[in-house]
Amino acid sequence: MRARPNVRERSVMSELKTNPTVRTVASTQSEMTEIILPNDTNTLGNLLGGRLMHFIDLTGAMAAYRHSRTHVVTAAMDHIDFIRPVHLGDLLTLKSSVNRAFTTSMEVGVKVWAENTRTGTVAHVASAYLVFVAIDEHGRLTKVPELNPETPDEIRRFEDALRRREHREAEYARRKQAKLATAMLKETKS
Ligand SMILES: CC(C)(COP(=O)(O)OP(=O)(O)OC[C@H]1O[C@@H](n2cnc3c(N)ncnc32)[C@H](O)[C@@H]1OP(=O)(O)O)[C@@H](O)C(=O)NCCC(=O)NCCS
Repeated sequence: MRARPNVRERSVMSELKTNPTVRTVASTQSEMTEIILPNDTNTLGNLLGGRLMHFIDLTGAMAAYRHSRTHVVTAAMDHIDFIRPVHLGDLLTLKSSVNRAFTTSMEVGVKVWAENTRTGTVAHVASAYLVFVAIDEHGRLTKVPELNPETPDEIRRFEDALRRREHREAEYARRKQAKLATAMLKETKS
């Protein structure tokens, strides 16, 4: 017969449940549904791009919170495709999950669909990648658990996330270099 876990083992098991060092993608999956109202739209009755980005940011943060179980801030929203317009009265569904966790940051993918409530037609309207950074209660950067991708799609997203991080870092270095070159040019002219 298996011995019952003692107090210390029960406390470790409970800690692992709320704060494991490795998490699955499924444990980060999040979803939000919104009805598009007049306040969300432009003069053509289509959802405003900024409002859509706000919904994407919120849904992305939900996955990051579920992964890190701490405060998170948005560090970047680096790729977003607005594929087709969303109309007044549509139901917008957003789904997110963590693609990869690094040291203190996580890349989250968000996919968005719109449903026409009269016809029931559902269309993919946007996709985005965001980077969230974990912050502790003192405002300091904090380490996040590892992510363990399990399915072929999760493994593909995990690998792509590393490529996108390298691209992001190269792009950041390029912009920094260009800024420095402009500043030096201004100085030599003055
Ligand atoms: C994001 C932020 C915390 C990073 O702080 P920092 O001191 O520059 O941190 P570091 O350079 O040490 O980087 C920490 C992590 O953030 C990542 N990061 C920092 N800037 C990033 C950017 N622009 N894009 C993607 N990742 C970024 C780094 O890659 C690193 O990840 P890792 O630990 O997993 O390797 C800081 O820039 C910040 O507070 N920005 C404002 C965030 C905000 O107000 N967002 C909107 C409201 S939520």
